[in-house]
Amino acid sequence: MSPEKNDSLTVTDNRTGSTYEVPITDGTVRAMDFRQMKVSEDDFGLMTYDPAFTNTASCRSEITFLDGEAGVLEYRGYPIDQLAEKSTYLEVAYLLVHGELPTQPQLDQWTHDITMHTFVHENVKDFMSGFRHDAHPMGMLLGGVGALSTFYPDANNISDPENRDIQTIRLIAKMPTLAAFAFRHTRGQPYVYPDNDLNYPENFLGMLYKMTELKYEPDPRLARALDILFILHADHEQNCSTSAVRAVGSSQVDPYSATAAGIAALYGPLHGGANEAVLRMLRRIGTVEKIPDFIKGVKDGDEKLMGFGHRVYKNFDPRATIIKKACDDVFEVTGKNPLLEIATELEKHALEDEYFVKRKLYPNVDFYSGLIYEALGLPVEMFPVMFAIPRTSGWISQWLEMVQDKEQKIARPRQIYTGAREKDYVEIGSR
Ligand code: CMC
Repeated sequence: MSPEKNDSLTVTDNRTGSTYEVPITDGTVRAMDFRQMKVSEDDFGLMTYDPAFTNTASCRSEITFLDGEAGVLEYRGYPIDQLAEKSTYLEVAYLLVHGELPTQPQLDQWTHDITMHTFVHENVKDFMSGFRHDAHPMGMLLGGVGALSTFYPDANNISDPENRDIQTIRLIAKMPTLAAFAFRHTRGQPYVYPDNDLNYPENFLGMLYKMTELKYEPDPRLARALDILFILHADHEQNCSTSAVRAVGSSQVDPYSATAAGIAALYGPLHGGANEAVLRMLRRIGTVEKIPDFIKGVKDGDEKLMGFGHRVYKNFDPRATIIKKACDDVFEVTGKNPLLEIATELEKHALEDEYFVKRKLYPNVDFYSGLIYEALGLPVEMFPVMFAIPRTSGWISQWLEMVQDKEQKIARPRQIYTGAREKDYVEIGSR
C-alpha cells in the first residue's frame, strides 16, 4: 500500500452499511467530506458537532505555531523566548504582518511609517470626551476603534493590497494613542499627543503619564519591560478574539470593524479580562494565610483560580516564564508589590495540589502580567487594554492572511436545531 493510500479514514455508516473513504491531510479530515454520508437521498448529510471549536481547524495559517503539550510558541517560526530577549515589539509586528524579520532599511521604514501615523483625527478627542467619567477604558477602546472605520471609509476596499497596508500601519500606530486617551479620560486629565522622538513603548508611557514637563523621559527599563509584554501578547493563533476578527472579517467588512470585534472578544473575563480578574482575586485573598481556604473554594467549584489553565497549554505557558522575569526587572525599579508574595505562594500551593496537577493547570500569561501593569501605575480596568494594543498586530496579520486565502468564505457554522416546530400562532389574549 502506498503511503498516500494510508492517509485516509475508512468510515462505515452503520445506519446504512455504506463505507466511505475520507482523505486525511495534515492530520485533518474535511468536515464537508462527511456530508456525503446520508441515510436517504433527501437527507442533509452528516455534520460534525463541535461547540467551542475545540477540535476544529478553521483555517490554514503560517503565522503562529503553538504546541501546547511541549509549551512551544513561535511567531513565523521564531521562538518566543528569542524574540522576547532580542527583538522589539515593532520588529515583531513587522515579522507577523510581513512573514519575515525586516532588514535594517525595512525596519527603519516600518518604524517611520508607524511613528508618522500615531496621531488621531481631532474629532476622536470629542467623542472620547463624550464617554461617562467612569467608562471602562476597554469599552472606550472598543468604541474608538470601531469609530476609526468612519474616519477611513476607503478601508472597506479590502481587495487592494496598498489599501490594506496603510490600514495595517494606522491600526498598529493609533492603538496606543486611543488606549492612552481612554486612560486619561478616566482620570479627567487632558489627552497627550504622541511624541515622535520616543519609541513605541516610550511614546505610550508618555501619553499615559506626561503632565507639565516639557519632555517626557520614560525609564528605559520600564519601557523595555512593557515592550516585552507587547511581544508576548502579539499573537496566539486561533484564540477567541482572533477567531472573532476572522469571522467578522470574513463578511469583508473593513479591518477597523473586524478589529473592534477582536477587542470585544478580548474584553471578556475568560480571555483578555483574566489579568484584571487575577488582581481582584489576589486582593480578595489579601494575605498568604488565606490561600489554603481560597484553594479549597476553587476545588469545591465555588470559583476559578484566575490566571491558571489554558485551552491549549497543558504543561506550561512559555510566556508565563518570561513574564515572571520581566516582573523582577520592573519591581527593581518600582519596588515590590505586596500582592507578588501572595501570587508566588498561590502558584506554589496550586502546583503542589493534586486537583491542579491532575487537570494540567499551570499559570498562564495573565497570572503575573497584572502585577507588572499595576507596578507601572495602571488600574485593573486598563489591563485588557494593555493586551489589545499588541494583539492588534496579531489580529491584523490574521486578517490579512484570511482575506488573501482563496479557501475562506463568509464564516457560517451550522447548528443542531433542538427547538419546537410548526406551532400555530396564538393570539395574545389567548396565551
Ligand atoms: N481554576 C480551577 N479549575 C479550573 C481552571 C481554573 N483556572 N481552569 C480549568 N479548570 C478545571 C475545569 O473546571 C475542569 O474541571 P473538571 O474536569 O473537573 O470539570 C478542568 O479544569 C478542565 O477545564 P476546561 O474548562 O475544560 O478547560 P478549557 O480549556 O475549556 O478552559 C480556560 C481554559 C483558560 C478558559 C480556563 O482554564 C479558565 O477559565 N482559566 C481561568 C481564566 C484565565 O486565566 N484565562 C486566561 C487564559 S490565557 C490568556 C489568553 O490566551 O487569552
